[in-house]
Amino acid sequence: MNSSLPIGIFDSGIGGLTVTAEILKLLPNENLIYLGDTARVPYGTRDNETIKKFSKELTLFLLKQKVKAIVVACNTMSAVSLSEIKEVAGKIPVIDVISPTVEFAVTKTRTSVLGVIGTRATTHSGAYQAQVRSLGSQFIVVSKACPLFVPLVEEGLVSGKSVEIIAENYLKDINEGNADVLILGCTHYPMLAPVIKKVSRRRIKIIDSAFPTAEKLKKVLAENKLLNLKNKKPKLIFYVTDNPERSLQIANLFFDGKFPGKIEKVKI
Ligand code: DGL
Repeated sequence: MNSSLPIGIFDSGIGGLTVTAEILKLLPNENLIYLGDTARVPYGTRDNETIKKFSKELTLFLLKQKVKAIVVACNTMSAVSLSEIKEVAGKIPVIDVISPTVEFAVTKTRTSVLGVIGTRATTHSGAYQAQVRSLGSQFIVVSKACPLFVPLVEEGLVSGKSVEIIAENYLKDINEGNADVLILGCTHYPMLAPVIKKVSRRRIKIIDSAFPTAEKLKKVLAENKLLNLKNKKPKLIFYVTDNPERSLQIANLFFDGKFPGKIEKVKI
């Protein structure tokens, strides 16, 4: 396979841009194609069958664009439909967000209790528990579904009293427990990190998927001799399935007002 081919990244919406931003920092030579299914976001409130169907469609779209690797920049799809995505992707390497994040998070806990917040589908799947347990039986996961967080971020509502009240309610049990690490188990949540931090117990370490996932991607590309080492002018393509103008407005919030490209609408 040719190393100049793009990396494909997808999410149910624009939350996966938090992972994309880290990939751009760590792998500045790479051509990228991002796909956000803004017509059907949120996925995390849907049943597993629907999430699997949507995941296959997103994967097929990226394969048609001839990508060299796929990043599932969505915890919900990583939790529910990773095996289906891998099956459709065939020989193309697939990088999820859960395993690299858990590997990183277990190195940061002293109490061995990890808080995880995510969508309903992610928390109900038990994927975090399974991943954490595979790294040691001493680790305990305390999880909480936060279904209002994704729509808040997709609306660009990431601060203020109303968001704080919602976050405080969601984090009540985790704050009262023994967790010293809080995993933001949804790629939309880093946009809410300042609020989450404000309402969290003081010494809890907040961890999101962006950095560990970008590092894992780099490692996988290197192992497969797929790193693009020469490219000086990488091509960045951003697709959504609905409302590109609105997506660009919100995406700008993710990039401090300097979104690195245009956003086009596509049919998948
Ligand atoms: N960014 C997705 C995740 O990481 C959001 C899922 C949703 O659409 O509900 O889970």
